[in-house]
Amino acid sequence: MDGSVCAVPGLRIRKLTSTFGAQIDGVDLRQPLSNETFTTIQAALVEHQVIFFRAQDLTEAQHRALADRFGLPGVYPPARLAGKTDDMSYIEDNAESPPKADDWHTDISWAAEPPKIAILNARIIPEHGGDTLWASLFAAYDGLSPTLQAICARLSVRHHPGADFLEKLKRSKQFGPDIAERLAAEFPPAVHPLVRTHPVSGRQALFVSGFMDQIVGMSRAESDLLLGYLKSRIEDPNLQVRWRWRPFDVAIWDEASTNHRALSDHYPQLRRVRRCTIEGERPFYRPVSPNET
Ligand code: SIN
Repeated sequence: MDGSVCAVPGLRIRKLTSTFGAQIDGVDLRQPLSNETFTTIQAALVEHQVIFFRAQDLTEAQHRALADRFGLPGVYPPARLAGKTDDMSYIEDNAESPPKADDWHTDISWAAEPPKIAILNARIIPEHGGDTLWASLFAAYDGLSPTLQAICARLSVRHHPGADFLEKLKRSKQFGPDIAERLAAEFPPAVHPLVRTHPVSGRQALFVSGFMDQIVGMSRAESDLLLGYLKSRIEDPNLQVRWRWRPFDVAIWDEASTNHRALSDHYPQLRRVRRCTIEGERPFYRPVSPNET
């Protein structure tokens, strides 16, 4: 792995693949970050889409302080409906609570304004398994032919929590049937462009997610066929980065340009992570050149 030294003394950014993902060393996220260090990290996130830091044993307050630098931390909608106001959520897998995030998705894409960034701090990591995968939606878009890119750019997709997610919510000890019902009522399908322009870099992403329901204006069969193909693009390992967690690692990812999937191959071992998401804006599509639709 090539290392690249930055203007910030001691901070080193190493790419994990030629596609995306980087590990940042030489920074202590428990301490307040100087503006220069934060700007470097923020730029690295825009460039690499997901960045990793080893061994950062953050308290909730330190985790929140880091999140605050990126924007406004949001409360996970099911937790908000359960009356909670805490913007930190814990995802715990154990023998009684099997893993629930082993599907490709971008978080809460069923909201009209899905989160822009997520910050995860590993608290308890199993001895084996339990890695997380990310896929680059920029690379997925770039890999399509110009003809299919142009077709996709004209399409919008309805995103919805979906039967599987609501069923998991219904069965969970934390939430249960009442929250699942209220969530479904509060979140009617959100319509998002299939090609999403990144609000900072302007790059185009193929905005797929496990929460997609149907392409607007297509029959169910047409939509399933096209979305099935597009979703299959992120199964290509060359578009992915995989993180083997160690206790207290931090991952920060760009929700607009990635999907992630937390594997369940550690079950029934205990795995506990703390996550905070940063509120985002309504996804949009902006053509790069006037010739694009
Ligand atoms: C998620 O945010 O979907 C979970 C990620 C993880 O537990 O690695």
